[in-house]
Amino acid sequence: MNTQKQYFTTPIYYVNAKPHLGHAYTSISADVSTRFKQMDGHETFFLTGTDEHGDKIVQAAQTQGTTPKEYADKISRLFQDLLPVLNVNNDRFIRTTDPGHIQVVKQVLSKIHASGDIYFSSYEGLYCFGCERFYQERELVDGKCPDHGVAPEVIKESNYFFKMSKYQAWLINHIKTNPDFIQPAQYRTEILSFLKEPLEDLCISRPKSRLTWGITLPFDEAYVTYVWFDALVNYISALGYPDGELFKKFWPTTRHFVAKDIIKPHGIYWPIMLKAAGIPIYKGLNVHGFWNVKGSKMSKSIGNVTDPLQVTAAYGVDPFRYFLMREMVFGLDANFTEETLVSRINSDLANDLGNVFSRILSMNQRYFKGEAREPDTHIQQEKSLSLASDAKTAIDKFQQAMSVCEFHKGVGAIWQFISIMNKYIDTNEPWSLAKNDDLTPILETVLYNLIEGLRVVSCLIYPIMPATSYKMQKTLCMAKKDNGFYTLAETIPWGQTRKGTCIATPDSLFPRIDTDKTRPQAPAIITKAFKPALKKQITIDDFAKIDLRAGIVMTAERIEKSKKLLKLTVDLGAEVRQVIAGIAKDYAPEDIIGKQVIVVANLKEATLMGEISQGMILAATHKKKLVLSGFDKELSPGNPVK
Ligand code: MSP
Repeated sequence: MNTQKQYFTTPIYYVNAKPHLGHAYTSISADVSTRFKQMDGHETFFLTGTDEHGDKIVQAAQTQGTTPKEYADKISRLFQDLLPVLNVNNDRFIRTTDPGHIQVVKQVLSKIHASGDIYFSSYEGLYCFGCERFYQERELVDGKCPDHGVAPEVIKESNYFFKMSKYQAWLINHIKTNPDFIQPAQYRTEILSFLKEPLEDLCISRPKSRLTWGITLPFDEAYVTYVWFDALVNYISALGYPDGELFKKFWPTTRHFVAKDIIKPHGIYWPIMLKAAGIPIYKGLNVHGFWNVKGSKMSKSIGNVTDPLQVTAAYGVDPFRYFLMREMVFGLDANFTEETLVSRINSDLANDLGNVFSRILSMNQRYFKGEAREPDTHIQQEKSLSLASDAKTAIDKFQQAMSVCEFHKGVGAIWQFISIMNKYIDTNEPWSLAKNDDLTPILETVLYNLIEGLRVVSCLIYPIMPATSYKMQKTLCMAKKDNGFYTLAETIPWGQTRKGTCIATPDSLFPRIDTDKTRPQAPAIITKAFKPALKKQITIDDFAKIDLRAGIVMTAERIEKSKKLLKLTVDLGAEVRQVIAGIAKDYAPEDIIGKQVIVVANLKEATLMGEISQGMILAATHKKKLVLSGFDKELSPGNPVK
């Protein structure tokens, strides 16, 4: 069978500073996409690496009193070591100082030079050392580089130039005829509007008198290659261009992940370089926005540069991956704060996913000793008792969204299904079904469907949270896959859980983050003063044990010899109860007659001051006075409260 292929890359990161949240995001997005494509039946290749030549690195090395090579080795190692921590599963890590890469850069340069698209000329221009490139006046903002905010310097040099202008019309046409070449659409528009102005030729050399830390031009020993001309070539050198098997197999399927800061080199220089060198053009660019931290651009001076190692140490890798995928709309900017991370972990992971998982498996444990029962095929066909079509809808939506990097929507599709599963539990009330032996086939079917639902969820979360996916599958006793995941095609068929499968009782998937104390290895950006602790947590099943009902107070009278107690009769719909309530100091009997209250209806009977109490009404203390709980609409007596 001819499997479809997919090649994904991240930018190769500069080694002038250690990795931060932004780098982690791009690598994780590409990893999530790679894992998703594998689930979608593709054979994949995933490349990342480091960009090690140029002024930036020389300057950074100087400040550390070391050589560029030593400095590059050290920082590149930090980028490499971060990948397994983030559970990013790249096939190759390339460094632009690798001899194989250097050789391919020379080959590409020689090819373009031989074809006449590189010429030598003297040039005077505005050069930004931060960007390592010349600027045109019109590109500056208030005379300053838009990225570095400093005025570029006037530099006059003889250099080699690449005839980009020659390919401008071709590139415009290529972008127009390939709508998904640059995604999302706003970046395609941005590049096309930039291309409305005439393209300047690109200066692709730096004289060795100014910079030696680079790849020597194959046709002039006195110059090194401009860092972008060197760096972009990594995408093909890593595949063994020109003759490597990987190159032949994967190059035609390339999609590069980049952020909006580097769309010009990727959307303009790179396709033109490929065209000039007679190499097929890559398939497309996936462009994402920028992470700000606490509302500002990450910067050393603000002190908000966020270290992914610290965040994962404090909160775990899967929650971090989940947060990044859920919180950013691919293409737009997003904001990182510790508070939103914690709140997502508590609400989406601990509360939604974690609870549905433990809720279902605890019920299955309670009613069937953890054994998966066989669903009743007739009952199964009843629409209200089916979850199969909801699962299929979730899979379809997930697939559609993930194919176009709409990760937040892909996650949304899974969480919508989780919410359907929760509603399904509430509607079918397994705890009520369990009270009547005649209803056992329905209970078996309901729990079977819920376990199947968990199976689907465990498969779909794989690209985003691989470790959690595995943990769920292990608990569900699903067969371990050699490649670590179930494909979408394997996920779809409903009814794969075998009768008799013994399902373990789960550990908590995501413990709630207790915001009452600062976490042990909290990231430096943590500033929140955490609130005082609430009481010890209970599960939703613990809570479900309490039968709360709406009641109406019919009569109320004082109890002799007690200053605190009132004797009430409360209408609970099906019955009237006597409740002895300790509210006499704050409520006179006439104040409370006719009031709606919340009653704990399954509290064991008790005797207080010789009177029987058949329940309890709920109240809070406010400014040392009791305040009764109630509703903002009139309910019929006996209405359950959940
Ligand atoms: N070395 C070049 C890329 C050469 S690719 C042939 C480079 N390196 S970089 O270290 O500056 O990395 C830039 C990339 O890092 C961005 O395109 C993006 O992928 C990631 N990010 C850096 N800061 C970021 C944010 N604040 N937010 C999101 N991603 C960011 O440019």
